[in-house]
Amino acid sequence: MTIIDTIQTRRTIKAFRPDPIKEEELNTWLEAASYAPNHRMNEPWELLFIGPQTRAALNHKTDFGGAPVLIGVLSKSAATTMEREENIMAVSCYIQNFMLAAHEAGAGVFWSSLGGTAKGREVLGVPEEQDVIAVLAVGYPSEVPAAKQRTPMTDKITYLP
Ligand SMILES: Cc1cc2nc3c(=O)[nH]c(=O)nc-3n(C[C@H](O)[C@H](O)[C@H](O)COP(=O)(O)O)c2cc1C
Repeated sequence: MTIIDTIQTRRTIKAFRPDPIKEEELNTWLEAASYAPNHRMNEPWELLFIGPQTRAALNHKTDFGGAPVLIGVLSKSAATTMEREENIMAVSCYIQNFMLAAHEAGAGVFWSSLGGTAKGREVLGVPEEQDVIAVLAVGYPSEVPAAKQRTPMTDKITYLP
């Protein structure tokens, strides 16, 4: 796949096969993702590998589609609002890299916001100064939804003089 194909064919996956993901392969995607842009090389991403007890406490309505792996993705605390926002932006780049690496290898990811709710934060034990960017459900898809149509970029561009 070209990078363009990889970007365009990645989908949010909500139904997974139970097959495990090899630890080595998962680590390859996690390491590749860390080449994301990040200001001052502060690498603001931190990961929580979510075990069965924590997963049950999150009480997701579909149990994350049966994904074999669940990862909480946090953004580091920061001294200023700008730094905090930049950290969140960099962590989002990290996640996109991770999703593309997984997709290229035939796996899929569901980005859930559940971890960012008050209850989710409590279950994950995240301190107030840190942001929860996602709970990522990772596995091999049992269903791949059709792409949702995007707005042409010509509708999104303003040319400044
Ligand atoms: C910041 C963020 C939070 C998201 N949270 C959720 C979520 O809580 N539940 C959900 O079903 N999808 C969530 N998604 C996935 C979007 O619904 C999905 O990306 C969108 O519908 C486009 O589909 P695609 O990823 O297959 O192109 C989230 C995506 C992002 C970037």
